[in-house]
Amino acid sequence: MVLNPKIPALVLAPMEGVTDARMRAWLTRTGFYDYCVTEFIRVSETALSEKHFKRTVPELSPQEKNQSMSYTSCGVPVLIQLLGGDPQKLAQTALHAYQAGAIGIDLNFGCPAPTVNRNDGGATLLKYPHRIEAIVRAVRDILPAHVTVSAKLRLGFDDPAAIDENSKRAEQGGAQWITIHGRTKTQGYTRPAYWKPIGKVSQSLSIPVIANGEIWTVDDLKQCQEETQCIHFMIGRGALSNPIAAAQMRTHLGQSPVTVENPIHVPEDLNPKEWANFFEHYGGEAARLKQWTRYLAHQKPVPWWNTIKLAGTAEEIIDLLRKL
Ligand SMILES: Cc1cc2nc3c(=O)[nH]c(=O)nc-3n(C[C@H](O)[C@H](O)[C@H](O)COP(=O)(O)O)c2cc1C
Repeated sequence: MVLNPKIPALVLAPMEGVTDARMRAWLTRTGFYDYCVTEFIRVSETALSEKHFKRTVPELSPQEKNQSMSYTSCGVPVLIQLLGGDPQKLAQTALHAYQAGAIGIDLNFGCPAPTVNRNDGGATLLKYPHRIEAIVRAVRDILPAHVTVSAKLRLGFDDPAAIDENSKRAEQGGAQWITIHGRTKTQGYTRPAYWKPIGKVSQSLSIPVIANGEIWTVDDLKQCQEETQCIHFMIGRGALSNPIAAAQMRTHLGQSPVTVENPIHVPEDLNPKEWANFFEHYGGEAARLKQWTRYLAHQKPVPWWNTIKLAGTAEEIIDLLRKL
C-alpha cells in the first residue's frame, strides 16, 4: 500500500508533458514525495499490451540492478494512470500493466483536454456517475487485491455538486482512495481552487481523500488543511514552481523526508549558479529546462529568463547561468 490512511502524505501529481520518467525520478529524489503517478495513458480502441507498458513506462523496465519494479530509481512508488471510458478495455489494460510490474492503477476522471473528452475519456465521465463506478469496479475486480486502485476526479464537469455522487460511486466501485482537484472541468485552471467541497466529501466517505489544486506554498497547504481536514495532499505545478515548498509542507505535516537513494539538494532561491548545477544533474534537454524556468516564474519573476530563453541546448543554458 503506497498510501497509509493514517499517515499524512504528499503526492507528486501526474502532469502530461511535464512529469515524465526523468522528472519523476528527479523530483522524488528530493525526498519530499511519498509516491508519484505517471502522466495519463490513454486507452481507446483496444486494450494496451504488457509490452506497451514495458516500452513506455521506464520504471517497469528498471535499468539499475537494485531498482524494484514500479519504483523510481531512488525508491519511490510510481502508480500507472489510465484514462478511458470503456470498463472492459481499461480492466484488460490494467491487468497487462500489472503483469508488466505495476503496483497500483490510478484512474483519470479529470482531464479537460477537448480531444480526450471528445473521445469519451477524462472529465467527460464526471457526467455519468454509474460509469465511474463501473470502470473502477471492472479494474478492481480484475486485479489481485495487493494492487491498489485509486481514482482522480475534478469536482464535476460543470456542476461542482457532482462530486458528492461521483466520489461515492468511486468508493462503491472499490477505489482505495481518491484524489480530488478542487475545480470543475469548465473551471479549467482558473483560480481559485475550491477546497471546502473536498472536505465535505472527505467527511462523508470511509476511504482517504487526497486534496489537490493550487497548493503552491506551505501557507496554501495550511489553508487547504483547515478547509478540508485532509491529511493527504497532491502537489502539481508547485512542485516545479517552488520546489523547496514541499519540504516545508512535510515539516508542517510532521513528516520527515522520505528515505531515498542519492537524495538531491533543491535550490532555495533563484541563484543562477545553483540552478545551473541543479539543471546539470537533472540532465533534461533545453526545452525542459525552459519549461521548468517558466514554472519558476509562476511564483516570482525569474531574473535570468531573458538570458536563457533563446539558448538552443541544455549545455548552453547551464553555461549562461554559470556566467551570471
Ligand atoms: C501540464 C499539466 C498536465 C497535467 N496532466 C495530468 C495528467 O496526465 N493526469 C491527471 O490526472 N492530471 C493532470 N494534470 C492535473 C494535475 O495533476 C493537477 O490535478 C492540477 O494541476 C492541479 O494541481 P496543482 O494546482 O497543484 O497544479 C495536469 C496538469 C498540468 C498543469
